[in-house]
Amino acid sequence: MKQEKLIRKYDKQVSAYENNRDNPTLVKWRSRIIPDAYGSVLEIGIGVGANFAYYEREKVNELLGVDFSKEMIRGAEREASKHHIKTSFINKDIRHVQFESNSFDSIVSTLTLCGYPNPVDTLNKINDWCRKDGKVLLMEHGLSTNPFLSVTQKIVDPLFNKVSGCHCNRNMIKLVEKSRLQIERVERYWSGIICLIWARPRE
Ligand SMILES: C[S@@+](CC[C@H](N)C(=O)[O-])C[C@H]1O[C@@H](n2cnc3c(N)ncnc32)[C@H](O)[C@@H]1O
Repeated sequence: MKQEKLIRKYDKQVSAYENNRDNPTLVKWRSRIIPDAYGSVLEIGIGVGANFAYYEREKVNELLGVDFSKEMIRGAEREASKHHIKTSFINKDIRHVQFESNSFDSIVSTLTLCGYPNPVDTLNKINDWCRKDGKVLLMEHGLSTNPFLSVTQKIVDPLFNKVSGCHCNRNMIKLVEKSRLQIERVERYWSGIICLIWARPRE
């Protein structure tokens, strides 16, 4: 899908994302991993700031959110005003954003690696941007561990991508293993479709 078309697709989904912000299942997963973020935090593909409620305010000094959808950023700004976290935003494609190495204590991605054309490249950038004693926290959806479901996901992926703009056939654990990040802990839910991954950057 062309980039401008994809951005427009996300721009139009803002109210759906806002309505889904308190989805109890997502809330359960977000609240397991997001409180582990600390210090200066980068969140990529921040959407409408669905994670803001789960950051521990005392542990987070500042939070920088990146998203290529202007409308999503507007939603995140509205949400940020309800939480007492120092936030700033960059409206840019993550592939075109540049930071110095070792810029952040924690880097967070929730439900974004399904969308990037080359997720391993993005994971390697995360590895570089995160301080070496920092934390990388991922909550992603991907290929199920159930063989029947995973075959179905592979079959429906082209249609899924057309409708949603993202992929349902990515093996998230393998992608992280292919990157320079070091996985520390994994929790899987929904027949393995949802992966919570705690990782550390490597030199
Ligand atoms: C599925 S939504 C997830 C939003 C949020 N992280 C959450 O957990 O609800 C994916 C988000 O990533 C953004 N996104 C997708 N591809 C991107 C890219 N290449 N650069 C920056 N943002 C991107 C979309 O605009 C959207 O807000």
